[in-house]
Amino acid sequence: MTDLHPWAAGLDSLYDQVWLRLQRGVADRHAPARHPVLATVTPGGMPQARTVVLRGADPDEAVLEVHTDLLSAKVGDLRVNPMAALHVWDAGTHLQTRIEARAMILTGAAVAQDWARVPDPSRQSYGSQPPPGTPIDDALAYAKRPDVACFAVLRLTVLAIDAVHLGPQHRRARYTRETGWRGQWLAP
Ligand SMILES: Cc1cc2nc3c(=O)[nH]c(=O)nc-3n(C[C@H](O)[C@H](O)[C@H](O)COP(=O)(O)O)c2cc1C
Repeated sequence: MTDLHPWAAGLDSLYDQVWLRLQRGVADRHAPARHPVLATVTPGGMPQARTVVLRGADPDEAVLEVHTDLLSAKVGDLRVNPMAALHVWDAGTHLQTRIEARAMILTGAAVAQDWARVPDPSRQSYGSQPPPGTPIDDALAYAKRPDVACFAVLRLTVLAIDAVHLGPQHRRARYTRETGWRGQWLAP
């Protein structure tokens, strides 16, 4: 039988645990929340999901941060429709977290401090030539040219969180910014 995590029994403690796990994802490269799936919607209405690295998690403001290439398709999606979703499955704690957010695309002077903290190897991810998603003749017919002008921070203002805990009894709760993060149990 699956262990019950005591924090899953209360709406507030479950909410706190969600943020604790998100913060751990930022700090610990082996934590499940290190690699959420970020979903956007294309201008044509097609959902697109991809793995990203969670770079920031602020429980007080309920804001998350992800770094990306300004020329990537996800940025194009978010310019048209800023709504995004994030998904994390934490197998160790039997916790699924689904997040609805509104993304702000930050570049230039607004992200200069973030860029200064990006280590050299990671900078390779921002500024590929040709831009991400461009058809190329050969698998390696591209170059990595780190370029601060291609560096974007996606600031995700969390609007709602849906948490599912698969203990001996399944529990599901929804939290919204609108209600000041007061939880509501849902039938799982
Ligand atoms: C483990 C892993 C981590 C990744 N982290 C990021 C990331 O932090 N930011 C990012 O833009 N892409 C990241 N990627 C690449 C994306 O999944 C995706 O392939 C790329 O951003 C292009 O997506 P798009 O064309 O939908 O914009 C990561 C991929 C993997 C497999």
